[in-house]
Amino acid sequence: MSKKIIKGGWIATASDFFQGDILIEGEKIVQIGGNIVDPDAEIIDASGKYVFPGGIDPHTHLDMPFNNTVTDDDWETGTIAAAFGGTTTIIDFALTAGESKLANAVEKWHKKAEGKAVVDYGFHLMIHDLNEETEKELPILLEKEGISSIKVFMAYAKEFQASDRTLFKAFKIGKETDAVVMVHCENGSVIDELVEEARRKGHTAPIYHALTRPPEVEGEATKRAIELAHIAGAKLYVVHVTCKEAVEEIIRAREKGYEVYGETCPPYLVLDQTALEKPGFEGAKYVWSPPLRPKSHQEPLWNALKAKQLQTIGSDMCSFNYNGKKRLGLNDFSKIPNGGPFIEDRFSVLFSEGVAKGRISITDFVDMIATSAAKIFNLYPQKGTIAVGSDADIVIFDPTVKRTISAETHHMNVDYNPFEGMEVTGEPVSVLLRGEFIIKDKEFVGKIGGGKYIHRSLAKEPKKETQIIN
Ligand code: URP
Ligand code: ZN
Ligand code: ZN
Repeated sequence: MSKKIIKGGWIATASDFFQGDILIEGEKIVQIGGNIVDPDAEIIDASGKYVFPGGIDPHTHLDMPFNNTVTDDDWETGTIAAAFGGTTTIIDFALTAGESKLANAVEKWHKKAEGKAVVDYGFHLMIHDLNEETEKELPILLEKEGISSIKVFMAYAKEFQASDRTLFKAFKIGKETDAVVMVHCENGSVIDELVEEARRKGHTAPIYHALTRPPEVEGEATKRAIELAHIAGAKLYVVHVTCKEAVEEIIRAREKGYEVYGETCPPYLVLDQTALEKPGFEGAKYVWSPPLRPKSHQEPLWNALKAKQLQTIGSDMCSFNYNGKKRLGLNDFSKIPNGGPFIEDRFSVLFSEGVAKGRISITDFVDMIATSAAKIFNLYPQKGTIAVGSDADIVIFDPTVKRTISAETHHMNVDYNPFEGMEVTGEPVSVLLRGEFIIKDKEFVGKIGGGKYIHRSLAKEPKKETQIIN
């Protein structure tokens, strides 16, 4: 088995930050120490660099049919961009809307990913509707496929939105199986009414996307999801939290002891609603849901991350070309495909805006970018940390370099970058997936199709009353 020593770097985990060496044998980390010597090992000099666990992106949409089209990054382009950005595991959403058997969706998603993914991956199973058959099928499928998370949309009435009854049934199955239930929290029915009203008044510009999805519809849906999950006794994970209203509901629930987790995404931390007011059609580049908010919502998001009331950073990667599919909404904001390209810059934007600007500690950064997601989605400790026995998914990161984000240099299959022109501090230099380089000195050296599907266990944690106390 091949051996490598990553030498002299500053190793960061969710709990520690220290200088040391990492010995890798085959796919695994086998030793961490002060000065490891092994004459058979290849030496990788990491002096002056930070050494992070590979990023885990729990929220991607690759090759996804949506809004009368399909996203522009598939499992090859999307995962190559992820690798450049320091992400070694993604969890994508297998969509079941319109499927008579849920298993069909999982099979489709396996086909999309197999032979293309260059990083490891798993799936969340989306639930649109549940009937007698699918209710029976769901727990069996979760177990068989190693899927420990269900996704329900409270928005997108015409495509994905589930009824409150389906949402509640999903929570009940979440409770039974121990799967975490992820929810897109926006009141889709109210949004549809606001959109129709805006269209009747002749409003067509991209900014109306934000104005017809106010923060209150996110706050209301977040509260509803929290209460329904609580009645069912399920674990809730609120995806892409964008605003003060939603954060406040999550904090309130957590303070009451409810098992509620929250994710936010880089654009909500650094961009704001004025981007949708750019001249002409340019605002379409910033159309995704929930929308960008006024700047005043950024501070509550950073504070909630710092206080660990929000735990993870997802990319919500969902890319559409500006001089392409975004144009479907040229004359009607409600037809602009919702989504943006974020898989590549998730890691670096959070490092730069968070750690380099002193907003979060380096250990909290690791927690948000990898460890928390690994724990919530049952990948830990195989993934999400640097520990003996863990997969050797490692990012060697230069914390000093300054660079400017641009579509000219990114690797996503889209013609624009929402962070265009933003100067960031720090950059992944080399990335290893299970002990092998996939990025070496900023060049892609991975294998197309080299990413593995990861089965995630649904093993229940020991309940408090059955824990053995010494
Ligand atoms: O606009 C977005 N976020 N597109 C992807 C689908 C979703 O809601 O996550
Ligand atoms: Zn969503
Ligand atoms: Zn999404």
